[in-house]
Amino acid sequence: MLTLGIETSCDDTAAAVVEDGSIVLSSVVQNQDDLHSPFGGIVPEMASRRHLEVIDSVVRRALETSSTSLEEIGLISATAGPGLIGSLLVGLSYAKGLSYATGVPLVPVDHIQGHLMTLDLAGGTPLPAVSMVSSGGHTALYHLDAEGGPPRFLGTTLDDAAGEALDKAAKMLGLGYPGGPALEKAAAGGDPSALDLPRPLSGKDTLDFSFSGLKTSLFSFLRREGYFDSTVEGRRLPYSIPDLAASFQQAVVDTLIERCFMALRQTGTSNLLIVGGVARNALLRERAAAAAIEAGFEVHFPPPQLCTDNAAMIAALGHRQRKMAMKDPLKINVYSTKSLRSEFKASARTRASRSACKSGGR
Ligand code: KG4
Ligand code: ZN
Repeated sequence: MLTLGIETSCDDTAAAVVEDGSIVLSSVVQNQDDLHSPFGGIVPEMASRRHLEVIDSVVRRALETSSTSLEEIGLISATAGPGLIGSLLVGLSYAKGLSYATGVPLVPVDHIQGHLMTLDLAGGTPLPAVSMVSSGGHTALYHLDAEGGPPRFLGTTLDDAAGEALDKAAKMLGLGYPGGPALEKAAAGGDPSALDLPRPLSGKDTLDFSFSGLKTSLFSFLRREGYFDSTVEGRRLPYSIPDLAASFQQAVVDTLIERCFMALRQTGTSNLLIVGGVARNALLRERAAAAAIEAGFEVHFPPPQLCTDNAAMIAALGHRQRKMAMKDPLKINVYSTKSLRSEFKASARTRASRSACKSGGR
């Protein structure tokens, strides 16, 4: 079965054609870096307007490059959330229109769960596993069981996402947009031990993350040194920009790795999957791989193009959830946020009441 995936949750307009949920026939991603870089971050209203301008040509390109006609598509899968509401509306409305006009069923899917699918598109997801989604909007840990059941939530960020922290640090350091790759580039010649930055929640018995204190530490340092003061000539700092970028990147990577390994130990799992935009980071890849060898775990990353937002992962998830395709696509709606914790509590309650029923209790 051929699935057409459509993804517009943030600032990438993406469409893909995927066969049987795992073979990527085409994956087109049109970014909006040119549009947002003068502002050093995403301007939501501009993002949705650009999606609207390009969505049709992106979908057409995905069909053309896979040599697929619309008549051959058996399922449409589109991101319903979480994300920027205006951006989501463009992709989902386009998908609804297409589904209504063609009669092809539409399945609305979750963006974070889409990231969890990316190893399926790269030869298969080793199970059971702990999977960390680390992107600009989310940093969360899940346990994936051996049977391929629904992901079990383990922990998430209490404030900023890791990618968001990298983006904000890059902006502070004047490194441009998108921040994560810019900071990685700047860090290449820097000394990661130059500035002593905190590792938030380090040593604590929690699978949650926190990055806002780390970001504030860099900000406070820069302010103390007069970096933001336009009257201080030459912005002389005790460390170079590459040193600061390398120190910040190291703190983020150390924090992510510590929490992943804690999750592996707590769940008795040996496979670690690292997905989402931040998984493109070379230091994270190197450090996680080295630490895994030392600890006797295995770490798996999707190829870089499948780490950042794409529609192939949305098509793969839609294929897996095809039984949930809507007969009346016009009823589907978008959602901007998602409380991972309350969803987790709800599913834990369901599990508890199911096992109470099974054991005859209340
Ligand atoms: O998954 P993604 O494309 O979008 C969201 O779902 O948010 O992730 C984008 C995030 C941004 O914060 C970006 O700065 C970060 O991934 N990112 C990186 C790298 N490439 C993208 N962070 C660190 N190093 C990279 N090479
Ligand atoms: Zn994403």
